[in-house]
Amino acid sequence: MPAGNVLMVCLGNICRSPLAHGIFETLSQDFNIKVDSAGTANYHSGGQPDKRSQATALNHGIDISKQRARQFTVNDFDAFDYIYVMDRSNLRDVLALARTEKDRKKVALLLGHDEVEDPYYGGPEGFKIVYKKIDNACREIIEQWKN
Ligand code: 4NP
Repeated sequence: MPAGNVLMVCLGNICRSPLAHGIFETLSQDFNIKVDSAGTANYHSGGQPDKRSQATALNHGIDISKQRARQFTVNDFDAFDYIYVMDRSNLRDVLALARTEKDRKKVALLLGHDEVEDPYYGGPEGFKIVYKKIDNACREIIEQWKN
């Protein structure tokens, strides 16, 4: 798999995809690529990542406080090579905007067959689990790029 621009997508772009954005950006520093994140919904557009995501990232030395939420748009299919979504609902919503087979092929669940579940309504433990799942998946992708 060749290296390419990566977009991380969840629903609100304040909990899961900002973590994925920060983690992937940190891990991919040897590659000359663009990393960003977006939400399928616009409820939080312009907002900072959830405080719990910020704290969880900072526990691992990653500062995501400068990120601002934005909504996924059809133009993202042109700007990114890989569009990783967190759950099947995100997958449905992003694929609904795909114009071509080429667009569709860029979209995949970050965990392959499993989902990164929404931690928004739960406690801090959910964010730790989300972090671990995302971090593992990002490392696997980077490993594939190196081969
Ligand atoms: P995210 O989490 O999709 O991981 O950013 C959510 C954040 C906010 C809401 C839902 C999910 N919300 O309904 O406001």
